[in-house]
Amino acid sequence: METKPKPRVLSGMRPTGALHLGHLTGALDNWVRLQDAYDCFYSVVDYHALTTEYEDPSAIRKNVIEVTLDWLAAGIDPAKSRVFIQSLVPEHAELHLLLSMTTPVSWLERVPTYKDVQANMAHRDLATYGFLGYPLLQTADIIIYKANAVPVGEDQAPHIEISREIVRRFNNFYGEVFPEPQTLLTPVPRTPGTDGRKMSKSYGNAIYLKDTDAEIRSKLKTMVTDPARQRKTDKGDPAKCPVFDLHKAFSTQETRDWATAGCTSASIGCIECKSKLADHVTARIAPMREKREYLAARPDTVMDVLKTGSASARAVAQDTMHEVHRAMKIEY
Ligand code: TRP
Ligand code: SF4
Repeated sequence: METKPKPRVLSGMRPTGALHLGHLTGALDNWVRLQDAYDCFYSVVDYHALTTEYEDPSAIRKNVIEVTLDWLAAGIDPAKSRVFIQSLVPEHAELHLLLSMTTPVSWLERVPTYKDVQANMAHRDLATYGFLGYPLLQTADIIIYKANAVPVGEDQAPHIEISREIVRRFNNFYGEVFPEPQTLLTPVPRTPGTDGRKMSKSYGNAIYLKDTDAEIRSKLKTMVTDPARQRKTDKGDPAKCPVFDLHKAFSTQETRDWATAGCTSASIGCIECKSKLADHVTARIAPMREKREYLAARPDTVMDVLKTGSASARAVAQDTMHEVHRAMKIEY
């Protein structure tokens, strides 16, 4: 029986360090789910890290391993998906160069993240050629595998949009080599950190997948709640409480009902409510942490996974590059 090939998905993460609950709810859970219905390529994008970390790249290698440990712990399965390091497939860089020949600078300058990230990282000099080309490199990541879909959050949508424009222009000049990648918008549930702002390493408000149960419990204990609930006798509103956002992501319906009833009637205290949340979060994270610790003690195994995944991705990328050379009349 002939089976139709699965549609292809590619996504990537920059190696910024250990991942937190926001990465789990915003990306990883979805990546894990996609593994059965799609042919998945998941890349740790170390070239992209260099666009902002070029002055001191000393943490990148360690962070590649950290990110990979978290992926594997969360259920990314190298038997199903190609897990790889971007720079171990240097064809990404070659395609980036070839795409740079056809892409107008003005297209890159008007990508909203260009000015946003420059403003947010004012301590770095991001007026570089490489940083301007970030979306072009991201386009190369995607289309070198002819990926049909790219699972990303809303913030990345402009990058996938420009990748379609870049593909259309390329195909116009040289023939239909690349399919236009579609955005597979991941619904990202609000996952606030302990101070109520978006969970982020740079805010110091994150709960990590590698945190111990005790660390998770103590972080949640200090988490901000509905500001109207000063005393236990004050009634609260879960809709105004960041703790409840985490209940939505990690607790059962039964616990959410219990918290809602107890909060709105002032029959439970916030300490109790957070402790119940901690039960659910630790139950979810503990098996991941165990798997992570097991793998962290075997760094060679993890590097082997990345090397095998990279070799397998590279074979696909090289096939595409042969087609590109032919289309661009630089086949020798
Ligand atoms: N720019 C993405 C981010 O910051 C990371 C990324 C690089 C990516 N290449 C990609 C995401 C390709 C999806 C597809 O999150
Ligand atoms: Fe938030 Fe729970 Fe306290 Fe209500 S009882 S304010 S939901 S922590």
